[in-house]
Amino acid sequence: MKNIEKLLAERITAYNKSEKLGREIHIFEEIPSTNTYAKELAAKGAAHGTTIIAESQTGGKGRLGRKFESPSGAGIYMSVIIRPEFNISLAPFITSAAAVAAAESAEKLCGENIRIKWVNDLYLNGKKICGILTESALNTKLKALDYAVIGIGINIRRCEFPEEIRDIATSIEGETGKIIDRNELCGEILGRLEYYLENIENKAHLGEYRRRELLTGNYITANTGGETVEGFAAGIDDNANLILRLADGSEKSLFSGEANLCRIRRQK
Ligand code: BTN
Repeated sequence: MKNIEKLLAERITAYNKSEKLGREIHIFEEIPSTNTYAKELAAKGAAHGTTIIAESQTGGKGRLGRKFESPSGAGIYMSVIIRPEFNISLAPFITSAAAVAAAESAEKLCGENIRIKWVNDLYLNGKKICGILTESALNTKLKALDYAVIGIGINIRRCEFPEEIRDIATSIEGETGKIIDRNELCGEILGRLEYYLENIENKAHLGEYRRRELLTGNYITANTGGETVEGFAAGIDDNANLILRLADGSEKSLFSGEANLCRIRRQK
């Protein structure tokens, strides 16, 4: 990748306004997966906020067992270890808080409107630029989260995506022509992520999540718990679930899964 500024811990730190996140940063040229490595470190006792970043991943993981393409120098592949002090009932909000932190940061740097597609993908001009994968470990005795690893992958530079995702994936440079500073983006994300995690009890991120969510107001199909359902995306509820209005007028709250816009919008 030409004209690419290297990821450097001291440059990220210069932009990082958080108190604890990213105060210890490990940067790799290549790694199988920053999430897998972060989980190993967390299991060995790594401190809250420890952050792993790579120039490339050979086995970047996406949700639902998918691969996350992570070519060298073309993106940000970052995992943040957190040891939450908040109640475990708030754990489902970790990913939506991260989505808002990443969306606001990317928007600040590229100047374009970044949308969130439920559950946790970021979209620019109708195509995906970022995915988030949160993996956590439960302390069964304490009925609390021992740790969570928040993995964020953002496509920054224009690159060739594999055939099967070419229609849905894009990069910030591909859409805007701008080459944004990856070190600045990492620092921005860490600062905003800390803010939203510290304010998770009052769901400080939820208003922005709703405002940016792109399925809302459209007919969609959703795959959830092995079932495919179709309906009208009526909004995001107070638990960050997607409210789906079915043809019979009843409503379903979708907690997890994958949803897409219906290609042909039906008339009621
Ligand atoms: C998705 O799109 O389904 C989620 C993608 C998450 C990718 C990030 S890149 C950094 C971290 N390490 C991984 O292996 N995955 C996450």
